[in-house]
Amino acid sequence: MNIILRKAFYSLPVNFRYVARRIAYLPQDLFTKRHPLMPPKGMIFTGAGNYIEIGKQFFGYFKNYGELTPDDSILDIGSGIGRMAVPFTKFLSEKGRFEGFDIVKSGVDWCNNNIAKKFPNFNFRLIPLKNDLYNLSTEEVASDLKFPYQNDTFDFVFLTSVFTHMMPDDLENYVKEIHRVLKKDKKCFATFFILDEECENSMSKNGHKNFPHKFGNYSLMDKAVKEANVGFQKEYILNLFAENGFEVTDFIRGNWSGAQPGILNEHQDILIIKKI
Ligand SMILES: C[S@@+](CC[C@H](N)C(=O)[O-])C[C@H]1O[C@@H](n2cnc3c(N)ncnc32)[C@H](O)[C@@H]1O
Repeated sequence: MNIILRKAFYSLPVNFRYVARRIAYLPQDLFTKRHPLMPPKGMIFTGAGNYIEIGKQFFGYFKNYGELTPDDSILDIGSGIGRMAVPFTKFLSEKGRFEGFDIVKSGVDWCNNNIAKKFPNFNFRLIPLKNDLYNLSTEEVASDLKFPYQNDTFDFVFLTSVFTHMMPDDLENYVKEIHRVLKKDKKCFATFFILDEECENSMSKNGHKNFPHKFGNYSLMDKAVKEANVGFQKEYILNLFAENGFEVTDFIRGNWSGAQPGILNEHQDILIIKKI
């Protein structure tokens, strides 16, 4: 989305944004055939691009970096409208388990009605929390959330494009909670906008103005809708994981800043961390 369109879209009240998207895609949704496990385009509030192909692409990364097996228990934090969950329906055995949670009701409902109904080892929970991009209907905050799962439950946890929409206090609580619910030696895959010298240099060289509002450990793209895009200083993130009992096994730079991307050439930066 270009800057002007993005500003116009963010200027709409949160609930209007969902309605505006629904209306904009209505003709396409009425007349185009889609994959049986794909929501109408107007309901996909979680990012542009091909829903099915992006899900498959990331599933490949999860399987590889998480060394997944079909009997694993998986946690998808910020499960949105199921984009990352769908490929797991073909992979997990009956012993495997897939849990997702999100703060937006329409996404969780779609996942339960379309995925969990057909695949009983899949479950999606609504945990309404305040976020100025996605949900202003509550005062509950992510920094106070205790994840509704037992200690040492999951073989793999992932967050795709979720920490890019969270403030530092919320992130810090989630890192502690992820450590609590992951099994020892198991991994978490998370995407970020990581700020370091290399990406700052590249942004200034390429004329990008991605994170102009700086607040110490984090920077924002838009001050009016803070959680639209949040970037974190690399040192802060690495210390946060180290202080919370994780080892960072991989840092794979994304291409968002124009800096030379790492091996996967994804838009966002990827961190893979292991509970030690
Ligand atoms: C860009 S979307 C990505 C969705 C999904 N992970 C995917 O890749 O398709 C960001 C998601 O994070 C969710 N989200 C934002 N803050 C959250 C929080 N504190 N806890 C859980 N989910 C959150 C939003 O509701 C939204 O579904």
